[in-house]
Amino acid sequence: MNRTLAFGWALAAAAVGLVGINGLAAEQALQAGGPRRAFENGKLWPDNNGVHINAHGGGLLFRGGVYYWYGEHKIGGKAGNTAHVGVHVYSSRDLYNWKDEGIALRVSDDPASDITKECVLERPKVIYNAKTGKYVMWFHLELKGQGYKAARSGVAVADAPTGPFTFLKSFRPDNAMARDQTLFVDDDGKAYHLYASEDNKTLHIAQLSDDYLAPSGRFIRVFEGRLMEAPAICKRNGTYYFIASGCTGWAPNAARSAVAPSIWGPWRELDNPCRGVNPENRLGPEKTFGGQSTYILPVQGKRDAFIALFDLWRPDDAIDGRYIWLPLRFEGEGFTITWADTWDMSVFEPVSR
Ligand code: GAL
Repeated sequence: MNRTLAFGWALAAAAVGLVGINGLAAEQALQAGGPRRAFENGKLWPDNNGVHINAHGGGLLFRGGVYYWYGEHKIGGKAGNTAHVGVHVYSSRDLYNWKDEGIALRVSDDPASDITKECVLERPKVIYNAKTGKYVMWFHLELKGQGYKAARSGVAVADAPTGPFTFLKSFRPDNAMARDQTLFVDDDGKAYHLYASEDNKTLHIAQLSDDYLAPSGRFIRVFEGRLMEAPAICKRNGTYYFIASGCTGWAPNAARSAVAPSIWGPWRELDNPCRGVNPENRLGPEKTFGGQSTYILPVQGKRDAFIALFDLWRPDDAIDGRYIWLPLRFEGEGFTITWADTWDMSVFEPVSR
């Protein structure tokens, strides 16, 4: 038995010990050995310890040659829909192989804290503020025991990308309800908070203060009455591209896309950008391959290279939720996202090369 194989089996044994002999452990054992060289959609994605990555509803940050992936750390079973641990962070230089960097923001043991254990802490996103040198995290927060009534945003800050993040405050931005959300930093350093507001009916795009710790007070209401969730955004050649889901909880629905010449609009809704079928669950564009958007990642060092990130939720066992990452293809005014079981970064090479 070579070293990699022996290591793989040791990890498999540990996994069986932890989660019992079930599909998850068996699949993990098969995937534990060797570096990954492609994205395998809907499969287990083992980290450097051979453990499936636990970063759901996530977002990425690129700093100093390293990608950091932040997401909700889920626990098994239905209880996984509330936060028992916090925000998990992983690091990678190639986007295929991820190192567990631990818990960036921990939920609190203090029952008086807004982020006390068993609150709902979702869709964390982290941006870097060049003026203050701080890493700033925003997330959707629901207070413990109140279901989804509070509809608040939480803010935390850190001196290093892996944290530890210190929770600062939670509030309703611009006095508006805020649930599913993302952050975006423009070329000029201005940052924006996009969140499902007004009972998820209408999206708000709000500029943040210069230190990124608060709303600036300037915001617009877009896609009025369209019930958009899971917002994600990117910018290419001066145009802003947007993707979101409809509003059906953990169940998948058809993705939305939109485009604008400025972050302030006018935003124009386009068609469902998804194409193809996920053979594992036989779900196509009408159900976003079983996934829900969470982020659009600009790939460093490649021209026009963006990856759309989706969660394949498993509401009956949240910890086992999977990931779908697919490249954006810009076509006409908008973009398409085509299913691939497996793909790698070579799709971004210019055709002529
Ligand atoms: C989804 C939302 C998730 C989570 C879930 C709860 O629509 O995108 O982040 O809030 O509802 O049902």
